[in-house]
This record gives sequence, C-alpha cells and structure tokens, in this order.
Amino acid sequence: MNVTEAVASRRSIRAFLDTPVSDTLLRELLEKSARAPSGGNVQPWQVQVLNGSRLQDFQQHLAQQDPREKPAYEIYPKDLPSPYRDSRFKVGEDMYGLLGIPRDDRAGRFAHLARNFEFFGAPAAFFCLIDRAMGQPQWSDLGMFLQTFMLLAQEAGLDTCAQEAWATRPQAVTSFLQTPDNLMLFCGMAIGHRDPEAPVNELVSDRLPLDSSAKWA
Ligand SMILES: Cc1cc2nc3c(=O)[nH]c(=O)nc-3n(C[C@H](O)[C@H](O)[C@H](O)COP(=O)(O)O)c2cc1C
Repeated sequence: MNVTEAVASRRSIRAFLDTPVSDTLLRELLEKSARAPSGGNVQPWQVQVLNGSRLQDFQQHLAQQDPREKPAYEIYPKDLPSPYRDSRFKVGEDMYGLLGIPRDDRAGRFAHLARNFEFFGAPAAFFCLIDRAMGQPQWSDLGMFLQTFMLLAQEAGLDTCAQEAWATRPQAVTSFLQTPDNLMLFCGMAIGHRDPEAPVNELVSDRLPLDSSAKWA
C-alpha cells in the first residue's frame, strides 16, 4: 500500500469486530508514528494504550463514573459558521441515514452516540493527551501524529476512529489512567478490525471542493 492508497482508503470506522490486536503491533505503529513532524521537534503527544483486558477494566470503571462532567474543552465553536456547520450536519445525516435512525428518533441517535464510549466495540484503543502548557501550534502537532498513526494502521490492515467525544468524559478517563495534573485529554482512538457487515461502516464522508479551501494568490 502506498501513501495515496492509505490516505484514500482510511475511513472512520464505527463498528468493530472483537478480533484482538497485539501489543507488539500497537507498539510498532506508535513507534513509527513518532516520525510525525512537530514544530521544533517538540513531540508533544502523550499516548496511553488500553488493550484487551485493560480496556475491559476501563469500561467497568467508566460505568461507575458520573456522566455529568465539565468537558475538557469545547469540541466545536459555539456558532460554527457555514460551510463548516453544513459539512458537520451532512456527515451526521449521512451516518444516521445508513443506520436508519431518523432525525426525530432522539433516543436512537443518542444510543449511537453512546457507542463512542464503548470505542464502537474495538478491542484496542488509546487516549491522546497533551501537557497543559502547550499552545495551539503543539495541538496541531497532535493531529500530525494521529493521522500518521491512522495511515500506518491502515497499512497494517487495522481500522481506526479518532474520538473527540471523549473530551466530554475527562474525569472518567484521567481518573482511570491516573494522569498527572499537567496533562489534559485531547481524544481517544478506537483501533481494530472493521465489521464488514455493519451498515455504518459504509459511510464515505464528503469533501468540499478544493476551491473552497485552496486559492492561488
Ligand atoms: C480529532 C478527531 C476527532 C474525532 N472525533 C470523533 C468522535 O468523537 N466520534 C466519531 O464518531 N467520529 C469522530 N471523528 C471522525 C470524523 O467524524 C471523521 O474523520 C470525518 O467525518 C471524516 O470522515 P472520515 O474519517 O471517514 O474520512 C473524529 C475525527 C478527528 C480527526
């Protein structure tokens, strides 16, 4: 698989098989991902892996935590302007369309959202954290690292879903991880093998035309 193929074939997967993923492979992928660039080579990403039985331990811990938490950060700006808002709306509608959950089925949509907190059934995962001292440039470095990981996972035959939904459960996560106070949670990453039968995995998200994001000055 070349880079173009990895970029083109990677998709967010939201239903996984329970086929295990080895720690050896996860370690190899994380080591390779650390070749991601970062401003000043600061390498600000901090990763905590949960695999197999540790992920199950975490799920048990999570079930005992109060779900009413102050989010780690606001996931979207309050008044997300167009065209960003439209893209966000469209991918949601496309996803719920595949799942057969109409707009007025709030319970159904909520139940699917809650699958985030089961890593969509993935047997492996990690949380990505960052030192609170870091600023916007270092936050962008996390994106470099995460996409590098997702592409390498793709090459290794694994599927992924980055999950900022976890930003709504920082206390539940960091209390399990025993995270030092200087670190804050950015996102989760579900890792495993896609369920080929699951309709939600048929989702191929749109992209805006190049002209809307790139101009030749
Ligand atoms: C940092 C980040 C956080 C994300 N958080 C979530 C999430 O919490 N739940 C989810 O279902 N998808 C999440 N996604 C997946 C996006 O919805 C997805 O990348 C986007 O719709 C484009 O689709 P694609 O990844 O299939 O190309 C996240 C993606 C990124 C990059």
